[in-house]
Parts: sequence; C-alpha cells; structure tokens
Amino acid sequence: MAHKVGYLIGSLSKDSINRVLSQCLIAVAPDDLEFHEIPIKDLPLYNRDLDDDYPAEATALKQAIADSDALLFVTPEYNRSIPGALKNAIDWASRPWGQNSFDHIPAAVIGASVGAIGTAVGQQPLRSILSYCNARQMTAPEAYIHFDPEVYLASGEVTDEESREFLRAFMTEFRDHVERVLTVLPRD
Ligand code: FNR
Repeated sequence: MAHKVGYLIGSLSKDSINRVLSQCLIAVAPDDLEFHEIPIKDLPLYNRDLDDDYPAEATALKQAIADSDALLFVTPEYNRSIPGALKNAIDWASRPWGQNSFDHIPAAVIGASVGAIGTAVGQQPLRSILSYCNARQMTAPEAYIHFDPEVYLASGEVTDEESREFLRAFMTEFRDHVERVLTVLPRD
C-alpha cells in the first residue's frame, strides 16, 4: 500500500535549493511513497490568542498533516538553527494544547546548504523540536547535503551517481522507517 508523505520546505524562497533537493529526493524515492507539499508560506505568526479561532491557513496545515502518513522536513540552516517560517509552522501544528498534529507521526529530516556542513547544526534543533512534539523520527541515516547546482538539478536529476545513490538509500531507509512505525502506530 502506498504511503502519503507530506513534505515541508523550510525555505520560502522561490529559488530555494531545498526545494530543488526535495525534487531530487522524490525522484529517487521508492514507488510506494506518494508526495504532496505542505505549504507554510502564508501562515500568520503563531499567537495563542487564536487557539480558539484558528486562521484558515493554520487549519489547512493541520488537516494536511492529518491527511499524511508521514512527514519529510527539507530545510536550510539559518544562523545555526531552523528558519523562523518553519518553526512558526511547527508551532501552529503543535497546538491547540492537546491537539498536537505531530503525535506519533513518522518523520525524517534532511537539508541542503551552500556551506560545507550542509545543515548539520540546524538539523539538531529541529530534531529536538520534533522530539518534544512526539514525532517518530528516523534517527539514521543522517543527511547533510552540501549543495552543488551542477549535481542537484531542479528537474530532480542528480548528475553525480554517488550523490544520487546516497539520496536513494536515504529515501529507502525512510520508507522502511515509515512502515515500521505505521505497523505499531497506524494512522486513522
Ligand atoms: C543562511 N545560510 C546559512 N548557511 C549555513 O550553512 N549555515 C547557516 O547558519 C546559514 N545561515 C543563514 C541565514 C540566513 C538568514 C540566510 C538567508 C542564509 C546560507 C544558506 O545555506 C543559503 O542561503 C541557502 O541557499 C538557503 O537555502 P534555500 O533558501 O536556498 O533553500
């Protein structure tokens, strides 16, 4: 049975290298994963005063997560952490209290940077946040992508075989992780 994977891009840029990476990941993913983007760019800033009257964008975010069997976070590192837009989306989805959208959901984290460490530092706070939100994260393999525009193409093609196979292995492990989690914790 196919699993529905919602993916969140941490960058709002139309030229995002992480959006390019997401297309490369989808291109090499196992056939039994189906992908849909969960947009975050139109969310207002989280405010708990709105917990009793969620804005439509935030309700749509929570519904999109509810409709997903698993989540894939593809994000840049901003100032050694995650972009504020992504943190804002997570804050909305984690609330109102008692209606945390991430509870038990299978998840994985990956990111691309123009810097040498490939989002390694930024992924750590994201893992911490997702742990607090009780997502079932894939802990390994880790993937810190140093972005080369000649290797990772917007079409989803990865021109370097070693890089392509690395992404393929990551997505295969992710599929296996999703299946393991869903076996124990099926989504309604
Ligand atoms: C960056 N960048 C960056 N890179 C990095 O390796 N570590 C970092 O801490 C930061 N910090 C940072 C902060 C801000 C505000 C910006 C705009 C950029 C550079 C970053 O890797 C580069 O801009 C990527 O292209 C961002 O990913 P997207 O937006 O193209 O997906």
